[in-house]
Amino acid sequence: MSEHLCTCTGKFYPNVFLPREAEILGAEFMTATEKRFTLRMKDGRALEYQPGQILEVGLMGYGEIPLGLASSPTRQLSFDLVIRSVGRVSKAVNALDRGQSLFLRGPLGKGFPLEKLRGNDVLIVAGGIGLCPTRSLIQYILDRRDEFKRFILFYGTREPKLQLFLEDLAKWRASKEVEYHETVDKGDPTWKGNVGVITTLFPKVKLDAGTRVVICGPPVMFRFVIRELDKIGISREHIYVDLERRMKCGLGKCGHCQINDKYCCVDGPVFSFAAIGNLEEAI
Ligand code: FES
Repeated sequence: MSEHLCTCTGKFYPNVFLPREAEILGAEFMTATEKRFTLRMKDGRALEYQPGQILEVGLMGYGEIPLGLASSPTRQLSFDLVIRSVGRVSKAVNALDRGQSLFLRGPLGKGFPLEKLRGNDVLIVAGGIGLCPTRSLIQYILDRRDEFKRFILFYGTREPKLQLFLEDLAKWRASKEVEYHETVDKGDPTWKGNVGVITTLFPKVKLDAGTRVVICGPPVMFRFVIRELDKIGISREHIYVDLERRMKCGLGKCGHCQINDKYCCVDGPVFSFAAIGNLEEAI
């Protein structure tokens, strides 16, 4: 099998045009529409990737969808993906269960800039399903906690019942390794936490202007979060946004992810806000 050199990790990977079969070790719906899959490559070779990289997830006869890995390579006997049932392919994938197979291409794109985050305070702002790709980075930081300074995590969803990875949330709430803050736009009778959009979490923590920030979530969230970061004086060079939602082929071929001269699938999907923030169509 021919291989290609990944510009992100400097390592060789199997030909990205050839899907590899992955066995589903576990599958469970976390909400009414989001299903978590735990997978292992069937050929016995580990999947080597960086937090923030993408896989094209395929099902024969249906097609492919690009998805950020939802677990860290530091926990890598298996890996997680979360698929939201929204279209024909994702609904067909979400009908699969333990023991069946998915077909994966990748990893694709460049992940989170670990070398720029190391040695600094890190804030991750995750909205809705944006927790999935950032979970790979959260796990990575927690597994290499000494390499980072303060670690702050903001997580927001529209409603409590839309929260993902409940067992992780319980651990993070109790952990001293991460300053975890959560909110919902609209509470319910069971909810005792903060109610309001994700920017209502900013007054709860004092952030240093040198903090490195990673943002992943719905586009509407970016603008308001950046406004808060501007007030603190955080450089836009130190703010990273994940634009994986724009990807399609993942190979720089279809043009679907192009923003001016940049391709999210080749140059991203993670960009510094300084590089992309002035492009209206990006945010
Ligand atoms: S996803 Fe097709 S060109 Fe980037």
